[in-house]
Amino acid sequence: MAEAGMSWSEYYAKTRDQPPRPTLLEALARFGGRTGLAVDLGIGSGRDAAVLLARGWRVVGIDAEPVVLALPRHPRLTVRREPFETAELPQADLVNASFCLPFCHPDAFPSFWGRIAAALGPGGRFAGHFFGPRDDWAGDPGITHIPEDEVRALLTPFEVERFDEEEDDAETPRGAMKHWHIFHVVARKR
Ligand SMILES: C[S@@+](CC[C@H](N)C(=O)[O-])C[C@H]1O[C@@H](n2cnc3c(N)ncnc32)[C@H](O)[C@@H]1O
Repeated sequence: MAEAGMSWSEYYAKTRDQPPRPTLLEALARFGGRTGLAVDLGIGSGRDAAVLLARGWRVVGIDAEPVVLALPRHPRLTVRREPFETAELPQADLVNASFCLPFCHPDAFPSFWGRIAAALGPGGRFAGHFFGPRDDWAGDPGITHIPEDEVRALLTPFEVERFDEEEDDAETPRGAMKHWHIFHVVARKR
């Protein structure tokens, strides 16, 4: 779900020149220069994929928006236009999910998370974000909000390397004020 009245294309125009997400940069630092296959969920304008490609990773980007098929081509980038709710994930060294998991429909989220965890072998990493229950968008039946104890339960197969809770009032890319409740996570599969 894009913000009311704003398409994902508008979101991309406002965010595409912004730097990669700190969760991704931390995961990459923890790989210590090793590369592999990264699945970039919600690839969007490619802001995270750009750093993955620059550092030598192969990237499979998955996103439901048709515009992602027009991302600049790169020999190590494959873009699949698919909804999270049904997407099958390849075996990967890293699953990056920046600000996109909440937009998987809640009914489909448990199965989607199962596919994310199954895509990672021992030593593989997850980097991404979950929205908590005090987020302003909680209550929207199409958005997945998860309490901290349930996020931690999802991470049981992982060694948690970063778990930051953010709760603040800040502008959305559209310029509206919003109360954000976000968990920033980096985790390594046991
Ligand atoms: C908030 S944007 C985040 C984009 C980028 N990862 C970033 O950090 O800026 C969410 C992205 O997830 C995609 N998305 C939202 N719901 C989706 C779904 N159910 N299946 C696949 N992609 C979805 C949107 O098209 C959008 O590109």
